[in-house]
Amino acid sequence: IMRRIHLKGDVLCTLLLLVLLCLVLYAQHDLQLIWGPWPTVAKATSSQGIRQIPSRTPATQAPQAPCQPHPSPPASTPQGSPSTGKAMVTQPPFDFQRYLRNKDCRDFKLLINQPAKCSGGQAGTLFLLIAVKSVVADFEKRQVVRRTWGRELTFQNGAQVRTIFLLGIPQNRTQLPLWEQLLAYESQAFQDILLWDFEDTFFNLTLKETHFLKWVDCCCSDVKFIFKGDADVYVNVENILEMLWGQEPGRDLFVGDIIVHARPIRRRSSKYFIPEIVYGQGIYPSYAGGGGFVMSGFTARRLHQACQEVELFPIDDVFLGMCLLRIGLQPVRHEGFRTFGIVRPSAAPHLQVFDPCFYRELMVVHSLTVPQIWLMWNLLHDPHFNDSLLDL
Ligand SMILES: *[C@@H]1O[C@H](CO)[C@@H](O)[C@H](O)[C@H]1NC(C)=O
Ligand SMILES: *[C@@H]1O[C@H](CO)[C@@H](O)[C@H](O)[C@H]1NC(C)=O
Ligand SMILES: *[C@@H]1O[C@H](CO)[C@@H](O)[C@H](O)[C@H]1NC(C)=O
Repeated sequence: IMRRIHLKGDVLCTLLLLVLLCLVLYAQHDLQLIWGPWPTVAKATSSQGIRQIPSRTPATQAPQAPCQPHPSPPASTPQGSPSTGKAMVTQPPFDFQRYLRNKDCRDFKLLINQPAKCSGGQAGTLFLLIAVKSVVADFEKRQVVRRTWGRELTFQNGAQVRTIFLLGIPQNRTQLPLWEQLLAYESQAFQDILLWDFEDTFFNLTLKETHFLKWVDCCCSDVKFIFKGDADVYVNVENILEMLWGQEPGRDLFVGDIIVHARPIRRRSSKYFIPEIVYGQGIYPSYAGGGGFVMSGFTARRLHQACQEVELFPIDDVFLGMCLLRIGLQPVRHEGFRTFGIVRPSAAPHLQVFDPCFYRELMVVHSLTVPQIWLMWNLLHDPHFNDSLLDL
């Protein structure tokens, strides 16, 4: 009898622990939904100054942080949605109403083109096009990419790697009065600038996506593979090439750090807040997060078609996920596309955590600063690199 009681006690204990575990997992899941899929996008675009998007559109589940009445509630709140008339006033709210009104306006002129980028004239073929999202002010980031992982290469078999930067009109033109001259000269010097006639804001990154795909379709349709990513990443191009050598460019391929079952964030204090009037469903389609992804030229052309038919959505990663869903292509997750960067120098003054062997395995490491990218590339490419140098 004692033993049975003992057993019962054990079972009870186990059950209790299980319940606790479930609670903890549930809580973590929630946290992850808030913080998880987005750590780097936030960093990548922080220079553009949009950190929070409180909105005047209806709140959903958000716990009410201190709110104040908005000075001028929107005139055109859609019928049937609960209007609180309140918004957080820490930052100017993102105007979803305006976004919805304007989203049919989605064709902008290409102001600077690189017509020779893909038809270089040589006998070689463009094997990999590296397309990097940038903003005009980030000249240093473009420079470090040009000098490190974004270097253009031609292999003995004629295969070429070419790099291009994707830009819009700077949002604050008074801050950078010489921007037009800078771009004119930069594009002449490096021949790697594409500039479109839309404002380069975080929420216009979707336009950058659609216009880039359109450019590939019109002006770079023979490209075999494309890497598209941010400028604050380290990309191990050798590893990407190795992955691609055996692949068939005429087939679908879409590889990255794929995020599945992410839920729209309904907290309006979040940078990624999306009200239900903009996206009503509970779950986003699978999409590539993080610093970049790889696709075949074939997939890019199919995505170009599909994206024309998908309504604009303010988060570009998710928007591309919607286009992928439309063509019925399941993106492939690859371990090499990590969602973190190296430990900050302050946390590791001697960079002792930098283990080149570890980074040799990766394809994309993101949220890096310019010196980190430069250092990483040099450490990984210096044949005389000596670990002991790091233990200064
Ligand atoms: C643009 O930049 C200038 C100069 O840095 C600054 O004074 C101004 O407040 C900025 N404007 C906006 C809208 O951010
Ligand atoms: C996107 O760019 C267009 C054209 O410059 C501009 O009118 C619009 O306000 C921008 N949208 C966002 C959300 O920044
Ligand atoms: C690398 O380290 C070894 C000892 O571990 C040392 O003998 C050698 O000089 C170092 N090479 C360089 C380039 O620092």
